[in-house]
Amino acid sequence: MLIVTIDASGLCGAVLATLESSAGVTLASAGTLEEASASWATDEACVVVTGPTVVPDEVFAAASRWSANQEPVAVVMVTPEPSAELLRRALRAGVRDVLGVSEAQEALCESVIAAVTSLGPRVESADRADVGARVVSVFSTKGGVGKSVIATNLGVALAGPLGRSTAIVDLDLQFGDVAIMLQLAPERTIYEAVQVFDRLDAEMLRAYLTPHDSGLRALLAPVRPEDAEAVTVNRISAIIELLRGMVDFVVLDTPATFDDVVLTAIDHSDDVYTVATMDVASIKNTRISMQKLRQLGYDDSLVHLVLNRADSKVWLDAAEVEKAIEGRIVAKIPSDRLVPRSVNKGVPVVLDAPRSVVAKSILDLARSIADSKGVSGDVAQGTARTGVGS
Ligand SMILES: Nc1ncnc2c1ncn2[C@@H]1O[C@H](COP(=O)(O)OP(=O)(O)OP(=O)(O)O)[C@@H](O)[C@H]1O
Ligand SMILES: [Mg+2]
Repeated sequence: MLIVTIDASGLCGAVLATLESSAGVTLASAGTLEEASASWATDEACVVVTGPTVVPDEVFAAASRWSANQEPVAVVMVTPEPSAELLRRALRAGVRDVLGVSEAQEALCESVIAAVTSLGPRVESADRADVGARVVSVFSTKGGVGKSVIATNLGVALAGPLGRSTAIVDLDLQFGDVAIMLQLAPERTIYEAVQVFDRLDAEMLRAYLTPHDSGLRALLAPVRPEDAEAVTVNRISAIIELLRGMVDFVVLDTPATFDDVVLTAIDHSDDVYTVATMDVASIKNTRISMQKLRQLGYDDSLVHLVLNRADSKVWLDAAEVEKAIEGRIVAKIPSDRLVPRSVNKGVPVVLDAPRSVVAKSILDLARSIADSKGVSGDVAQGTARTGVGS
């Protein structure tokens, strides 16, 4: 693995020198991005680290170009002031990570190791849609709309009734509910997994997945909220990409925020299911989130709308909601007391009351997700994407 630094300040080279003793790592430096791109061979993966004096726009342009050309390269950027805006632009351009100068001392090596992991064997990055899992995230910046209910039920439905190899990751790192909703003991969580991050490979990661009776495997949220800090976006990225090679489907449950963890989840997702309920606050919130996603450059085709508690006796009907949000509803999940009952029991409603309308509506959605990807090793059959709930 080649690590090329472009850094007049010398900071990056000095920090990264400790990696030189690692097997298979070669450190090099370049004067410009152009020069850096001449230094890697087509078959060798490379991490380019840009220092604080390199102009961000130039880094973004190079990263976009390299990513469009599917170059085997990941970019880590060190910058004097890492604003949220800069981070988002960087993520959009395909930059792997952005660190402030003050963070770099501590976190640069880790960031570069995560970048190395993400590059993986060439074949995976070149053709990931066909060889790896389909990653779906369940998203809403509003709390309590049913993200975790939907994510856990989708996971269980895919793994159980639909018989597809599936993992769920609880990215609500501080207040995750997946363990409770699936009645799983959080003995090993994502926090324990990141403690061994430097050595983490698919085989090791398997040991941190908690099995559910349905066959679903869950990477649970840390038990102590303060441990969430250790679960950085680099590590999350690397873990999602490891899972991609291990199962057919990865379901990501997310917190009710629009932070870098959620953006990372979306960045790795093939489909984002945005959950809205039928009240004005939720619709407004969803409309703003969808606009933000568009502004960030995500394609509309990535995002699908799920209407939860769809039959609530409130003012809006589904057509009004679609119009307000400018998105298409792919699933309508009714409100049913069976849901809080199933949450309290720790048995997802698709297993607890499989014949109920609410369970069937979630199963339909799970089926459409299952149909979007052929069975591993099989020639895909009947995989045309179909709408659900219409
Ligand atoms: N279709 C439904 N019918 C009835 N109750 C529901 C339905 N969906 C969700 N609920 C109830 O709403 C509550 C909140 O759901 P859930 O925890 O999944 O929301 P969330 O979006 O994940 O919230 P947070 O953002 O806080 O994580 C749950 O206790 C659940 O019982
Ligand atoms: Mg939740």
